[in-house]
Amino acid sequence: MTLNALALGALLTCAAAAHAGEVEVLHWWTAGGEAKAAAALKATLQAKDHTWKDFAVAGGGGDSAMTVLKSRVVSGNAPAAAQIKGPSLQEWAREGVLANMDDVAKAEKWDESLPKVVSDIMKYKGNYIAAPVNVHRVNWLWANPEAFKKAGAKVPTNWDEFFVAAEALKKAGITPVAHGGQNWQDFTTFEAVALGVGGVEFYKKALVQLDPATLNSPTMENVLSTFKKVKAYTDKNAPGRDWNLATAMVIKGEAGMQIMGDWAKGEFIAAGKVPGKDFVCAPAPGTAKSFTFNVDSFALFKLKKDANVKAQKDLATAIMSPEFQELFNLNKGSIPVRLGMKMDKFDDCAKTSSADFVATAKSGALVPSIAHGMAVPSAAEGAIKDAVSQFWNTDKMSAKDAMAKIVAAAKTK
Ligand code: BGC
Repeated sequence: MTLNALALGALLTCAAAAHAGEVEVLHWWTAGGEAKAAAALKATLQAKDHTWKDFAVAGGGGDSAMTVLKSRVVSGNAPAAAQIKGPSLQEWAREGVLANMDDVAKAEKWDESLPKVVSDIMKYKGNYIAAPVNVHRVNWLWANPEAFKKAGAKVPTNWDEFFVAAEALKKAGITPVAHGGQNWQDFTTFEAVALGVGGVEFYKKALVQLDPATLNSPTMENVLSTFKKVKAYTDKNAPGRDWNLATAMVIKGEAGMQIMGDWAKGEFIAAGKVPGKDFVCAPAPGTAKSFTFNVDSFALFKLKKDANVKAQKDLATAIMSPEFQELFNLNKGSIPVRLGMKMDKFDDCAKTSSADFVATAKSGALVPSIAHGMAVPSAAEGAIKDAVSQFWNTDKMSAKDAMAKIVAAAKTK
């Protein structure tokens, strides 16, 4: 190498270092598969010479993360990016704390690369304020085929079959349903029952539009009673249990099945399990022709330092790149949110999810997950979840009493 080339090399390195910034990213991806996916994001940023400052707040569903985020932003110390989803993005944007990402979005053609239902959520008053990473399907049932074989049971396709299978598993000494203890876990089961028993139109009217008459109808009563019946098939240690520990019960065959979004698949994969062989993914009973979506996204906060703004834009660019979308989602259990991606490296669960996402977007059976913050303003969502969990946890509460509580909760502002 000549002296000139050496000098040029040194100059370029300095230039890169001068532009390198720090990105602090708030997320709650601390379980096995989640952590692997988060590591992929960190590596992508570090490859661009930026410093990654991890701001992980443990707790499935992100309730604790949101509490910590609020206090940070209030004290004027926002991270570069935070995992925020659905209508909450609009709530944060209204506070005037999010950055406009339109230059990145234009350069990277986000409008053309995203389904409209997703890009609408990422914009506030027409400007991009967040970048999406994936589409999680929430209406899944995860089953251990060995446990089902031992019980002589068949993976259920509707709620009647679900209770037949649950009885058989119970008789075989296996916990039929792995369940945990937070209100979002209860609601993940509840919304699956609402969709499977009530159907798509009921789901939209009751849980998305929060129509009081539909929330207080015979169908709702039936949904609540079916939901409560599931509880008899969970074990006594469910209260307080984290979702990934419930998944571990299915992985080990201690439990037969779990109703959970496909971040659970990330756990099976991280444990070295093979889909179709060691575990089965099936649509939650009665919901094969519909799709409950949960899109993870990063809201991008206004920052002061130029180098950090540059790093933040690199983060947004990386998140939407085809390479990252593939790598991240192979670990996370979800599918890329970017349109037109090749799915050849993905397993059959992801391929089914991808095909069903497209099909249900056309048929109108693509519905947002309430449990995962996709449809309802956060105050009402929290109140409705609490009411549903209270019903789950209170032996003597009738479905009629629960309906009255849910109707009141839906009015929370
Ligand atoms: C998030 C997922 C996460 C799950 C469990 C959901 O609300 O969208 O990314 O894996 O919670 O923590």
